Amino acid sequence: MKVTVNQQILEAKILIPEAKLRARIGELAQSLNEDLGEDEPLLVLIVLNGALIFAADLMRGLKMPTEIETVRVSSYEGMKSTGKLNFLTPLPDMAGRNVLVVEDIVDTGRTVRHIIQSIQAMAPKRLLVCALLDKPSEHEAPIKIDYTGFEIGKNFVIGFGLDLDGKFRNLPYVAELVPAK
Ligand code: IMP
Repeated sequence: MKVTVNQQILEAKILIPEAKLRARIGELAQSLNEDLGEDEPLLVLIVLNGALIFAADLMRGLKMPTEIETVRVSSYEGMKSTGKLNFLTPLPDMAGRNVLVVEDIVDTGRTVRHIIQSIQAMAPKRLLVCALLDKPSEHEAPIKIDYTGFEIGKNFVIGFGLDLDGKFRNLPYVAELVPAK
């Protein structure tokens, strides 16, 4: 598949196929079940829109009583972070709760750090972060992600929830955008 960005023609090359995503998400759910147990309620905070598809799959593998909350954060335009981070919806109250933040991808780490700091100010009982993808080479400061699906390189990726200007979230795989030959 070819995609045009700023008049540059890029090719979407499959990086993580569907079966690999499914298998890894199953492993992540199992780790969470083992680490958190099946009894204590968990509040899953889905960072919209990117983490929607990942979270839907992950949550169906969880065994503890689980609630869903969502938050919308915006910082990207096209393939670039604007650097400005806004909560487009307010965070729900998470005082005294076991919270799992579910993110699509950690790039610079700014978004996840901002969310963690805001939740920590509410004094949750426990706060964990789970990201489907991580770009370790792009972190601008050390950041602790408790559960990571896949570490990837710096190329922009789309699919499985991740977008380019709002599109391609529906692809059932993760593809990286590389210059077309
Ligand atoms: P960060 O704040 O730089 O870590 O960026 C995190 C957010 O930027 C993610 O939740 C995504 O919405 C978006 N993002 C970062 N890298 C990519 C990418 O390669 N593809 C699509 N979205 C991305």
